[in-house]
Amino acid sequence: MSIAPPPFPNARARALAAVTGLAQRVSERSGRRRSPAPPVDRSLAVEVRAVHRPCPDVAEVVLVPAGAEPLPRWRPGAHVDVRLPSGLWRQYSLCGDPADRSCYRIAVRAVPGGTGSAQVHAVTPGTRLILRGPRNAFPLAAAPEYLFLAGGIGITPIAPMVRAVHAAGRPWRLVHTGHDLASMPLSGELAALAPDRVRRRPDDRDGPPDAAELLAGTSSSAAVYCCGPPPMIDAVRRALPAGQRLHSERFSPPPIRDGRPFTVRIDGGPEVAVPADRTALDAVRAVRPDVPYSCRQGFCGTCHVRLLSGTTVADTAGPGRTALCVGRSAGADLVVDLGG
Ligand code: FES
Repeated sequence: MSIAPPPFPNARARALAAVTGLAQRVSERSGRRRSPAPPVDRSLAVEVRAVHRPCPDVAEVVLVPAGAEPLPRWRPGAHVDVRLPSGLWRQYSLCGDPADRSCYRIAVRAVPGGTGSAQVHAVTPGTRLILRGPRNAFPLAAAPEYLFLAGGIGITPIAPMVRAVHAAGRPWRLVHTGHDLASMPLSGELAALAPDRVRRRPDDRDGPPDAAELLAGTSSSAAVYCCGPPPMIDAVRRALPAGQRLHSERFSPPPIRDGRPFTVRIDGGPEVAVPADRTALDAVRAVRPDVPYSCRQGFCGTCHVRLLSGTTVADTAGPGRTALCVGRSAGADLVVDLGG
């Protein structure tokens, strides 16, 4: 859905327009913007400058360019693909200041059993990493006012949005949920901007949040931005009045709705049955565990392969290709080339 840019009648509003890039942007009702993977030659070499621990299980990593060039520009909501020391690619939201091109900041919670987060927590100053991007799948659009909802580490893309909207003088509120205050990074410093606009809501004190409570007092003209676990986003979406805008970003793949089984034939290899409730990526990796993936949401490009025959739906990979993590057959079976 295209959104016509509203007028920007004053300097602060023009500042917000510059941050959001609304004039060039097409925003989706879901807030999820699918963008193609950047070409490999846009890879950036960076070095870890510092690692902070804003919470016991969160590593906030400061990345600086390995060369003399400043880092590419970005806007609130953007993420980078990070190649970790093992070669794994993972996506992390940028949570620092977009105006500071001398460094990027990411904040990563340690996930029990998580290989990616464990590697981020193991980096030390001087560790070299490769980045791709930044890209923005969660753009900040101009709106008369904002409600920001963050669940746990979902605060990372929200933090630069809050700072931008605050600097532009627009009305905003933030509700940050989490298990306990000690596990909720970044919102303490955001509260210093405007204490009466930030509610830090730990479950151990206030009980599990419900969507009606999170949305209480929100005007119908507010843009609602939500980043957190899928149940939180789904509950907020269900509780919003019809017509109210929701922009969201998930931690994990969206559920498969109304999926139908199909078959993927790997060129020169076996046929793989894809059940109605699984992705082609899951099914293919059961026989070819070396097939790479990262975001599992269609936008990073890691699992995109050449589509030799068949037609897909829900795909994000562009003509002649398919994203194994989200693309499904539109009817006939698919034939893919895993080498391309
Ligand atoms: S596009 Fe990222 S894993 Fe499929």
